[in-house]
Amino acid sequence: MEDAEKKKCSDGLPARWILAVLGCVGFMIVYGLKVNLSVAIIAMVNHTAVAEMAGDHGHGHDDHHDDGHMTTSASIISDDHAGNDTGPVVDECGRVVTESKLTDGPFAWDDNTQGLILASYFYGYILTQVPGGWVAEKFSAKHVFGVGALVNALCALITPIAAVGSPYVLVFVRIIMGIAGGVTLPGMHVLIANWAPPQERSKIASTVYAGMTLGTLVCMPFSGILAATIDWSAIFYVQGGLSILWYVLWMIFVFDSPAQHPRISRSERKFIEESLGTVEKTEKPPVPWKKVMTSLPVWAIIVAHTCNNWGWYMLLVKLPTYMRYILKFDIKANAGLSAVPFLCMWIFTMLLANLLDELRSRKKITTTFARKLATLIASVLPAICLIGVTYVGCNTDLAVALLTIGTMFVGGMYSGFLSNHIDIAPPFAGTLMGITNTVATLPGIIVPSFVGYMTHGNQTVEVWRTIFFITLGIFAFEAVFYTIFGSGEEQEWAKKKPTNQEGEHQKLNDMA
Ligand SMILES: *[C@@H]1O[C@H](CO)[C@@H](O)[C@H](O)[C@H]1NC(C)=O
Ligand SMILES: *[C@@H]1O[C@H](CO)[C@@H](O)[C@H](O)[C@H]1NC(C)=O
Repeated sequence: MEDAEKKKCSDGLPARWILAVLGCVGFMIVYGLKVNLSVAIIAMVNHTAVAEMAGDHGHGHDDHHDDGHMTTSASIISDDHAGNDTGPVVDECGRVVTESKLTDGPFAWDDNTQGLILASYFYGYILTQVPGGWVAEKFSAKHVFGVGALVNALCALITPIAAVGSPYVLVFVRIIMGIAGGVTLPGMHVLIANWAPPQERSKIASTVYAGMTLGTLVCMPFSGILAATIDWSAIFYVQGGLSILWYVLWMIFVFDSPAQHPRISRSERKFIEESLGTVEKTEKPPVPWKKVMTSLPVWAIIVAHTCNNWGWYMLLVKLPTYMRYILKFDIKANAGLSAVPFLCMWIFTMLLANLLDELRSRKKITTTFARKLATLIASVLPAICLIGVTYVGCNTDLAVALLTIGTMFVGGMYSGFLSNHIDIAPPFAGTLMGITNTVATLPGIIVPSFVGYMTHGNQTVEVWRTIFFITLGIFAFEAVFYTIFGSGEEQEWAKKKPTNQEGEHQKLNDMA
């Protein structure tokens, strides 16, 4: 009986890969439901009324609403309604500029209100990083991640009603979504720490975290299509509804650790537990806060995560703005073209993760080397592309190529510092992710204000060059700091007290 059951299960997909795929979809939900509002809001706002309130003839939405992740576009919705009654306008690069008109929605929210609605997610998100990691370590990472995503789905479902209520009800719902979304990243880090054998860590982490990019990639055009074919509220009802289905699968197929999984094959459980050195589930030690905050490898991750996010937001959100105002080229207007960088990034992420895991498991390179190499790829190469963009002049093809290549290389972060928390302190992976992601969320708030301040009424190549050189400096600081202080080794303060030979056993495993 037991044998038959064992055989049946070991034939299926390994439980850790089911977790990786469901985790990936979970992140697609969390990040998709986060960014869909930036598409929806364009269809929700009564642009005529807003323009009347502002006392001018509006040109539709502007880029300062970008909420940290890439926003493809109004044009997915508005292209159908583009009129050519204004006649062709030719810019200084010799291209025809088409002004598209936006369809009016029901809500007369001015620019400040729209900005507040889009930003409110961040305020919740930044609050729950550290508590989320801690609760996931202490109790259940499965439920932390699952409930986080479920609350996002439920909030998406009530978003249309909240919006009808008042913009402030919507702001409140978005803060709740942020609070729930904030626990997902540290929660997932705990699950990966419990499930991923060290030699597969980059692969599994990259698969799961790719969901953040994929979610945006899928959700932006999907939202555009729903808004154009049905109406804006369909975005929330359809996507929220599909997300609930995911939660059912998550509850059935995902467990906190191999030991708690009732259907995992014996060989897989043995493989994971031996490679992790966690045969028995021991009482979680308290977080040694002082040691954590004085650990240079921890600071290396904080610096890398924060600086890299600065550059990431610059590439995702501000480079398209630069191209639109300086090169007069609206990459966002072309949904197909704007998806290319993320597809390249996704493919590159998976190839690099596989390569590094392979080299590590063959002991050709150390974990430290792998993390530093991937982090260098994710910082130095995008920086070069960013500077390159300011020197290509009106050659938008080259600018688009550089944007694509730069975005692609940022994908190195998943095999670099973003997998690193588990290496240096497996029992505190969630807390560490919470700490570094709290700091790393700040660029999402600072970058738009900083760029807005620099370019206010002054959209010139020189100003943008200054902005990009500052970003270069930040990328360079990341590269140097992480290369000097980063580590792939388990830190002394994170090791379990060696009560018996188990400590030795774990040490041997960590060499891998
Ligand atoms: C938008 O506002 C204008 C002016 O206030 C109004 O005439 C129009 O009916 C509104 N449109 C919608 C869809 O509510
Ligand atoms: C738009 O341009 C096309 C071709 O130039 C022309 O036939 C059409 O009448 C124009 N439509 C409007 C609304 O001006």
